[in-house]
Amino acid sequence: MKRIPVIVLGAGGVGSALLKQIVNGREPTAARNNLHFNVVAVTDSRTWLWAEQGLTDEQLLDVVDAKQQGLPVDPHWREVRPPEMQRPSDHGILDAASEAELENVIVVDVTAANHMESLLKRSLNLGYSVVLANKKPLAAPWERAAGFFSHPRVRHESTVGGGQPVIATLRYLRDVNDPIYQVVGQMSGTLGYICQQLDQGVAFSAAVHAAKTQGYTEPDPRDDLGGMDVMRKVLILGRMAGWPLEESHITVESLYAPEMASLTVAEFMDALPYLDDSMRQRVAEAQANAQVLRYVAEVNADGGRVGLKALPAGSGLANLKYISFRTERYNDEPLLIGGKGAGVDMTAAGVVGDMIDLVREVY
Ligand SMILES: NC(=O)c1ccc[n+]([C@@H]2O[C@H](COP(=O)([O-])OP(=O)(O)OC[C@H]3O[C@@H](n4cnc5c(N)ncnc54)[C@H](OP(=O)(O)O)[C@@H]3O)[C@@H](O)[C@H]2O)c1
Repeated sequence: MKRIPVIVLGAGGVGSALLKQIVNGREPTAARNNLHFNVVAVTDSRTWLWAEQGLTDEQLLDVVDAKQQGLPVDPHWREVRPPEMQRPSDHGILDAASEAELENVIVVDVTAANHMESLLKRSLNLGYSVVLANKKPLAAPWERAAGFFSHPRVRHESTVGGGQPVIATLRYLRDVNDPIYQVVGQMSGTLGYICQQLDQGVAFSAAVHAAKTQGYTEPDPRDDLGGMDVMRKVLILGRMAGWPLEESHITVESLYAPEMASLTVAEFMDALPYLDDSMRQRVAEAQANAQVLRYVAEVNADGGRVGLKALPAGSGLANLKYISFRTERYNDEPLLIGGKGAGVDMTAAGVVGDMIDLVREVY
C-alpha cells in the first residue's frame, strides 16, 4: 500500500469537504488504487494540526466539525502555547515536512489566499507535488505563474468547472495536437442563477438578494458581481490552451457601478435597486430578439472578454451547464463539456481526482 503524505492548506468549505472525502474514501481508494492518503498537516489562516506520522481520521473529522462551528482547526487554540507549538508560517509548514524527511508529499492549496506562488514553487523544488483549487497562483502575472502550467507535478482540475473535466479536456486537446481556437462558457453558478432570475422578470436587486440569502454568493456579493473570479477562470483556460495571456488581455464587465465599490455590504445591498432599470432594459432588448442575457466568458489567442452577452434562448451556451471548445477538429461543431459544476463537494472531488492522478502518474 502506498502511503502518501498530504499537507492541506485551507479548511473552509472545500478543505472540509476534501477531508471528509479522504476519510470516507479510504476503502475504495485502497482497493482500487492501493493507496492511503496520510494527512500530516491541516491548516486554516490562524492555526494548524500537524502529525509527522499522519493525523487520525478522528482528528480529521473533528476538524470538519470545528470549522462547521466556526472554530479553528486546532482544538487547543485557546491554550497559551510555547512558540514551537504555534502555527508556523506556510513556509514553516514546508520546513516541518522537510525536517521530517517526508517524501512524495502532495501539497493541496484549498485556500483563497493571494501570493501562494512562492510557497508552491518551493514545494515543487522540494520534490513535492501541488494540487490547487485556489485560482490565484495560476492567474498571477505570467512571469510568476508560467512554471505551474508546464510542471508535471501540478494539477488543478477544480480551478475551473467545479470538478468537471475541463482542464483534463484542454490537456487532452493539446496532447493530440488539436489547435485550440476559442473557449467559451458560463463559469459562475452564482451569476448563472442571477441571469436565470432576470429571464423570469425578477428585478436585478431582488435576484442578488435571493442569491445572497440562499448562500450562492460570497459574503460580499461584489466578489461575484465584479467578474474577477470568472476572469481568473478564463485566464487559466487561455493559459492552458497555450496562450501566455495576462489579466490586462481580458476585458471584465462588472455588474455594479464603480462608485458602489466603497460602500459597506449593507449599503451596497440597499443601493442595488439603482441598477434595476438599466438591467431591465437590457433584458427586454434581448427578449425582443428571442435572446437571454448570460454572463459569458470567452477567450482566444488574442485575449478575452467576461461580461453580459445576449444569446439565443435555448441555445447550448444559454444553458449554464456547458463550456465549449472550438478547435481545428471541433470547428464547425464545438466540443461541449456539460453537467452540474458547482459546490464544495464537486470541487473537493476534483481535488481527490488530481491527487490520485498524481500518484498514478508520478509516484
Ligand atoms: N466553493 C466552491 O464551490 C469552489 C469552487 C471552485 C474553486 N474554489 C476555490 O477553492 C478555494 C477554497 O474555497 P472555499 O469555498 O473552501 O473557501 P473558504 O471557505 O473561504 O476557505 C478558505 C480556507 O483557507 C484558509 N486560509 C486562508 N489563508 C490561508 C493561508 N495562508 N494558509 C492556510 N490556510 C489559509 C481559511 O482559513 P480560516 O478558516 O481561518 O479563514 C479557510 O479555512 C478558493 O480558492 C476558491 O476560489 C471554490
